[in-house]
Amino acid sequence: MRKTVIAGNWKMNMTPKAAGEFIRALAPEVKGKDKCDIVLCVPFVDIATAAEAAKGTNIKIGAQNVHFEEKGAFTGEISAQMLLEAGAEYVIVGHSERRQYFGETDATVNLRTKAALAAGLKVILCLGEVKEQRLSGITDEVVAMQTKLDLAGITEEQLKNVIIAYEPVWAIGTGLTATPEQADETCGVIRKTIAAIYSEKAADGIVIQYGGSMNDGNAAELLAKANVDGGLIGGASLKTDKFTAIVDAANK
Ligand code: 13P
Repeated sequence: MRKTVIAGNWKMNMTPKAAGEFIRALAPEVKGKDKCDIVLCVPFVDIATAAEAAKGTNIKIGAQNVHFEEKGAFTGEISAQMLLEAGAEYVIVGHSERRQYFGETDATVNLRTKAALAAGLKVILCLGEVKEQRLSGITDEVVAMQTKLDLAGITEEQLKNVIIAYEPVWAIGTGLTATPEQADETCGVIRKTIAAIYSEKAADGIVIQYGGSMNDGNAAELLAKANVDGGLIGGASLKTDKFTAIVDAANK
């Protein structure tokens, strides 16, 4: 009953012009491949061009971060309403690169998630353990804690607009992918945590993606796992042929 969601995270890649060209080239390749939802999370300045290019296609546009205040003296920040008006439907919150390099904490991830949901954006909430935590055998505790802290105060009704992306930090941009078993197991831990906080129904309904070196070669076996409902794809979302192959794997 859960729909697979294949999302690209372009990170700091592609200018507005390149974004428009990419989407116009991708659209005919993924047309009618509706067994999955397709989202591209693009740099802020690309959103308007990307949304225009995606009009009338099955490609949806997202941003990569959002501020938690509605407006005010927050130089350099972007509000949820700004994203919506520019044409974004989704926003990534809590990506590990924001946590690692820009001081993002579970507390600010929670604030951003609440603000985005209140404004009507769909949230792709990222969480996952670092290498030392996996090696110490505390992955389950780490992802359960992040799930609880990041979703604190969010209602079961609001949760319908949340996708969780399980991204083991050691697998991001490294070429090291979690095995399908590891991905399935840890996505399962997150799902159980959702059941504990909310309900079995909420746990059954929530889309949990895997992210971390997912590509055209490994997507099919990752997506075949019961607890893996899609992918959040970095590097391989920057090439139309690779991204299309992942969409194809989700449509089998
Ligand atoms: P890569 O697919 O490049 O490893 O990036 C994953 C990621 O961080 C998606 O958000």
